[in-house]
Amino acid sequence: MSLRPLGMEPPPERELLCIFGTGDLGRSLGQRLLQTGYRVVYGSRRPHSCGPLPPGAQVMSHTEAAQLAAVVIVCVHREHYDFMEEVAPQLKGKVLVDVSNNSKKGLYPESNAEFLQSLIPAASVVKAFNTVSAWSLQNGPSDAHRQVFLCGDKAEAKQAVRELATRLGLSVLDRGSLSAAREVEDFPLQLFPEWRLPLCIATGLTAFFFFYLLIRDVIYAYVEQDKDISFRIMVSLANKVFPIVSLIMLSLCYLPGVMAAILQLYRGTKYRRFPDWLDHWMLCRKQLGLLALGFAFLHVLYTLLIPIRYYVRYKVTAHTVISKQTAVFDTTSAWRTDSYFSVGILGFALYVLLGITSLPSVSNALSWREFSFVQSKLGHLTLLLCTLHTYLYGWNKFLRPSTYKWCTPPGYMLCLVVPSVVLVLKLLMVLPCVDRSLGRIRQGWERTGPE
Ligand code: HEM
Repeated sequence: MSLRPLGMEPPPERELLCIFGTGDLGRSLGQRLLQTGYRVVYGSRRPHSCGPLPPGAQVMSHTEAAQLAAVVIVCVHREHYDFMEEVAPQLKGKVLVDVSNNSKKGLYPESNAEFLQSLIPAASVVKAFNTVSAWSLQNGPSDAHRQVFLCGDKAEAKQAVRELATRLGLSVLDRGSLSAAREVEDFPLQLFPEWRLPLCIATGLTAFFFFYLLIRDVIYAYVEQDKDISFRIMVSLANKVFPIVSLIMLSLCYLPGVMAAILQLYRGTKYRRFPDWLDHWMLCRKQLGLLALGFAFLHVLYTLLIPIRYYVRYKVTAHTVISKQTAVFDTTSAWRTDSYFSVGILGFALYVLLGITSLPSVSNALSWREFSFVQSKLGHLTLLLCTLHTYLYGWNKFLRPSTYKWCTPPGYMLCLVVPSVVLVLKLLMVLPCVDRSLGRIRQGWERTGPE
């Protein structure tokens, strides 16, 4: 990877580069190249009517333009590569930079770059710049848009393109030979790939608990008590679904770690790969955690709303008017509510800390030990506090038969299953005998013996 600073020395003797294609990307790239000190010549099918080009650039036919430069950047869609065969003699021995992308994955049997190489075998094709947009080239590449993935079979050709990209202020990541081009071409087509599974889990859990609680709370009251409490969908139901989903997702961040430890203990080695699904799950823990934090945040916002709700104010006033006397102070209830509030607040504070330390700008400033202390030790403490918050909220309702409407447990009981399992397993893992064995395995010790 080349990480030379931005304003590096200009190209030697105002080197001339050729760009095929005068579309958005071709024009933006040309403009940046001219600003960096290169000379630019465009090759176009219609040199006399190709629209406005960056000031200072020349335009001519493909054949004429290709003759003038050693590096030709092909900013043309693959569907229009047919003209390339005509220009093949002029492209012999030159570096061809393929910047194209496809609209869908798996559209063609081979990558665009490999296809171009098969059309012009005498040139050296390099795949590059396909992850940089015309917009970011025009506005100056920011961090997120700065990375250029590069691949090709000829080392000198790749070196020429690497220097070019570095002079443009982009950072280059070498992905190897031209056979990696398909993977590089798929990058711009990916839509939040690491968020997909966490988003599916969040959507699935939200939908499940929404309908489950709708039936248990609203439809039950309608059918059994002839009461319409559908207004509760907006706040009460939401304030149940969000914390429930949040707690389950938080526990799902820690479950794969415990499963991996059990697998290592069972196998007696750390040198065997985890199954793919476990690997995939572990890789998206950060996204799971951030989504869970978002749901917890919604729960806190909805909770702030409780005292000002019309329904709550009405209930309080009605109770005072009907009973006309001061209710007896129940110390146990005071303890219960204060405890679950307090534990919830502490849990939420640690939750936010976990979220902040998972941001790259913060995690990069931490050592590995600090990061794993926060994410593992404090993470499990967060899970413990949030689980305790929910147990305290349930309090003695776990034993009351009236809690189980239509023989179904309330949502908060269901959501306690996974976190409780994770916490119990984690507790077993920290038992000295288990912890010692795991520690040895993680330091490279292997249990030998018949498989
Ligand atoms: C329930 C407060 C943080 C999980 C509740 C309720 C309140 C509350 C008032 C009862 C809601 C109702 O009666 O409808 C708070 C406060 C927090 C906090 C003040 C922090 C500032 C958290 C966190 C979690 C969590 C971080 C974990 C993800 C739950 C769960 C329930 C609950 C699962 C039961 C929902 C139900 O089915 O009714 N919390 N909470 N809370 N809270 Fe929290």
